[in-house]
Amino acid sequence: MTHKQLIKLALSARERAYVPFSNFKVGAALLSKDGTVYTGCNVESAAYSPTCCAERTALVKGVSEGAQEKDFITIAVVGGHNDARTLDYCYPCGVCRQMLYELGDDDLEIIVAKTEDDYKVHTITELLPHGFGRKDLDKK
Ligand code: THU
Repeated sequence: MTHKQLIKLALSARERAYVPFSNFKVGAALLSKDGTVYTGCNVESAAYSPTCCAERTALVKGVSEGAQEKDFITIAVVGGHNDARTLDYCYPCGVCRQMLYELGDDDLEIIVAKTEDDYKVHTITELLPHGFGRKDLDKK
């Protein structure tokens, strides 16, 4: 699976975003070690806080379908206002960075893309240095 293919899947998932409140559509495509891709879009709620970001939709889909902790190796994220003519890079929010840190591989790659050909690649450690996770809860 190339970066370009993963971005394409994220762009398709973005089309399914349910965003009556923000009109900001986000799509994600999460690649697992075995080659399975879990896609996600943001799904908003009138009560606001139950809103689920695209990245967490994809993570929850993956885990609920049997993916194990650390199985996820790459995620592509695309987002922007529905009326925008071009997309800007859309970085995962803090809550999504936390869940990507906990469920993703230690070297998880995060692709933020404007198009299939215009993207940046980061590691989870770059986006969430000194993250808190299971290892910290295990400390006595
Ligand atoms: N959103 C995402 O889906 N992912 C992010 O990382 C940033 C924010 C969504 C949540 C909400 O539906 C909309 O974008 C505006 O915040």
